[in-house]
Amino acid sequence: MTEIKDIFDLRLKRSADDLWPMLEQLYGAHPDYQAMRNDLLDEMRRAWKARSADLKNLDLERDLEPDWFQRPDMLGYVFYIDRFAGDLQGVHDKLDYLESLGVNYVHLMPCLKPRPGDSDGGYSVMDYRRINPALGSMKDLSALAKALRRRKISLCVDMVLNHTAKEHEWAVKARKGDQAYQDMYWFFDDDSTPKAYEKTLIEIFPDNAPGSFTHYDDIDKWVWTTFNEHQWDLNWSNPRVFLEIAKIMLFLANRGVNVLRLDAVAFMWKRMGTRCQSEPEVHVILRALRAVTRICAASVLHLEEAIVGPAEMLTYFGRGEHDGREGNLAYHNNLMVQYWSALATRNTQLMTHVLRTHFPENLTNATYATYIRCHDDIGWAITDEDAGALGFSGGAHRAYLSDFYEGTFDGTFARGALFQENAATGDKRISGTFASLAGLERALEDTDPVQVDLAVQRILLGNALIASYGGVPLIYMGDEIALTNDDSYLSVPDFAHDSRWTHRPFMDWDRVAAAQENPASPQGRVFAGTRHIYARRKATYQLHGGYACRVRDAQNPAIFAFQRIAPAGILLCLFNFTEDWQNLAGQWLRDQGVAHFHDALSDRPVELTDDTFALPPYGRVWLT
Ligand code: GLC
Repeated sequence: MTEIKDIFDLRLKRSADDLWPMLEQLYGAHPDYQAMRNDLLDEMRRAWKARSADLKNLDLERDLEPDWFQRPDMLGYVFYIDRFAGDLQGVHDKLDYLESLGVNYVHLMPCLKPRPGDSDGGYSVMDYRRINPALGSMKDLSALAKALRRRKISLCVDMVLNHTAKEHEWAVKARKGDQAYQDMYWFFDDDSTPKAYEKTLIEIFPDNAPGSFTHYDDIDKWVWTTFNEHQWDLNWSNPRVFLEIAKIMLFLANRGVNVLRLDAVAFMWKRMGTRCQSEPEVHVILRALRAVTRICAASVLHLEEAIVGPAEMLTYFGRGEHDGREGNLAYHNNLMVQYWSALATRNTQLMTHVLRTHFPENLTNATYATYIRCHDDIGWAITDEDAGALGFSGGAHRAYLSDFYEGTFDGTFARGALFQENAATGDKRISGTFASLAGLERALEDTDPVQVDLAVQRILLGNALIASYGGVPLIYMGDEIALTNDDSYLSVPDFAHDSRWTHRPFMDWDRVAAAQENPASPQGRVFAGTRHIYARRKATYQLHGGYACRVRDAQNPAIFAFQRIAPAGILLCLFNFTEDWQNLAGQWLRDQGVAHFHDALSDRPVELTDDTFALPPYGRVWLT
């Protein structure tokens, strides 16, 4: 036992600089600060003591292999438990399937007890220590975590820390008038302060939840509600909020959760006169929370969800003094946006510009979560400056992308749905599955075999991109069998206002069987092609997230190019974003370090004709 206590103390020492000075900075002047500090340390010791031997072993293992999540064998899969497998128990029966895809990281979409009725897809949590009863119990979660651990699959669960449901016991007590609980949220006696904040805030759900504050007649108070009315923003300037959330995180870590997806982190700190997004204190909080789990549950990673512009997004890995000390993982939403933008325009210049100008070649102690789409809408996070650098208008380009992917633009291949049109800014976001946005839904409906083929190639292009850029690629459930938009949500009253449900379909297990039996069908080709790409990723050591990713100008606007720079050699990844053949000069390839002309993706040599390399429509290669 003394040995184990020593490890805790060593880890405490290791992360001391990431914890105490951060708390001092945030809360030093608060009257409750000293008490909170003591409570936190007690809680941390308690959590460590309660941690199972099995999990402590995993902590050690991952301390010894700190790059485990950067390795090319990582592959994530994201699903709603009910839509994938009915309930938590049901997931056990699907583990063979996940393993057959090569998956070793699963993100269970929100599964903690949500408020009744509309819960924003589970992001309105009323009890963080209970599982949604429709899905099972905390015991079921621990059992699943154990089963996953045996298969070396990491478990990611959502931790919503910007807000709780208004039905959470803290919120209920606050509403009853308990001052200590009101101080955990943002309560206002009249609308003067809310109005002053509103001047610079940005609407998140302008359609169905306009404004960022809600008035409750029964208590005659205003409450800060950035997202929906039922989601009350926590007041992170109160040290008690930090303490309570840290306790919950350790509770989940001890249930076997390996990755905490920290939801909507940008909004955690409020400052008058700003957008109240990504304020410097957010990073101080996140660094301190990171330290807490690193000390008591060292194998746990933090995935930070901040769907923001390029420069801002990087801050979630920690920049400057926080470099490498914040999120281990953060969504690369800009890669996702640029994929869709380049597909629509058949031009990769903006993509090359953005990814080269704003993103470093290397990250410290961190890597991206790469994806083509997720459970949320796609917002066109393209700045006016970046569009301007290429000589066009940001506003016009964003509007074009919305029309293109909604499916109203003349000649588009895509079919999607609008999400939250903002009349004031003209901003329109888009919902849709990978297959529908990439053109498969429309092509199948038109029974157009040429378009079907192109859509399949677009899907595989996207997979090859997120498999090689650097990071943990995440497949959203059903994209591997090309599920198209599901409009049945329109007849579900709690969902009908939220078009994101169109791209959260139920898993179609018959479709899985059909795709396997008929590999020549469009779904069969997507399924086999997707599996192939991730199998080849695992076999390609240059794709380790720790190696640099250097974006290159391919001197052909149709082609996106980057080098993965491993000590033993360079991998040149090329992607044709058009439906035409595209040529590249052999000399240019050699200049990029291609020596063997072997494609690691197909695992075949490539042929040059007249020293010219030709990439087929939507072709992709990883050249060594
Ligand atoms: C995150 C989630 C999104 C949710 C929001 C509010 O952005 O991904 O689905 O609506 O947070 O919790």
